[in-house]
Amino acid sequence: MAHSAGAIGIFDSGIGGLTVAQAIHKQLPNEKLIYIGDTAHMPYGDKSSELIRNYSTDISQYLIDHHKCKALVIACNTASAAAYEKLRDSFKGKLPVINVIDPMVEYIISRDNIKHIGIIATKATVESGVYQEKLIRRKKELVFSILATPLLAPMIEEGFYNNNISSAVLNEYLSMPELKDIDSLVLACTHYPLIKAQINNFYNSSIPIFDSAEVVARKLKSILQIEQLLNNGIKSEDEFYVTDYSTHFAETAKVFYGENVALKRIEY
Ligand code: DGL
Repeated sequence: MAHSAGAIGIFDSGIGGLTVAQAIHKQLPNEKLIYIGDTAHMPYGDKSSELIRNYSTDISQYLIDHHKCKALVIACNTASAAAYEKLRDSFKGKLPVINVIDPMVEYIISRDNIKHIGIIATKATVESGVYQEKLIRRKKELVFSILATPLLAPMIEEGFYNNNISSAVLNEYLSMPELKDIDSLVLACTHYPLIKAQINNFYNSSIPIFDSAEVVARKLKSILQIEQLLNNGIKSEDEFYVTDYSTHFAETAKVFYGENVALKRIEY
């Protein structure tokens, strides 16, 4: 059973999920976070759902067995699409599992002024059909266009953001006919907040651009409140791990998290 003194386990294929961890840290400053970026297997977006499910299950089990986490946040759309249901069912009654897709879908359908939404995501997220299915089920009249943008996550993870290369790649993707006439855009990959400003520039700030970090952090807070799992003791230090370490990851991690993080390598 989860205990309020436990940590919140967060994972992503790489360091993109640190954008979600940062929002959680702001929303819940008294909670200890344990983050795992599966950089040895990044990108998840080009892999089969079975493989993504296996990686996600192993990481989650590790976070629970070795770190006694009280809640699990899948800070990756691709892993949320492939593995959420399995993880939720496996850990039912033990600890809450939060994915990044459902809070975003709830947020989209709550906004009356959205008629034609664009969604950009990894190939695996697009092919899973999860966004399409959840949005249609909740709001039939909503028109949406979903586009796979497989170059973006590896490009960002390699440190190419806010420069000419990322501009050129973004211009190419965002000019595609699939995204014509959208009135809003969802960044359905936790790496994309890093290029949000550039995307905003492309649209001359004329449409709202949503990412899941804030809404997921708020959802987690309300679940911890309901389940009486908020930490009421002293907070211990956050821990950040990657499955393959390079100094380059360490540098990029700082940018994603917004402050210094001491990244360590682990094997799960
Ligand atoms: N950050 C992951 C997501 O939110 C994608 C990156 C990858 O392809 O591994 O979908």
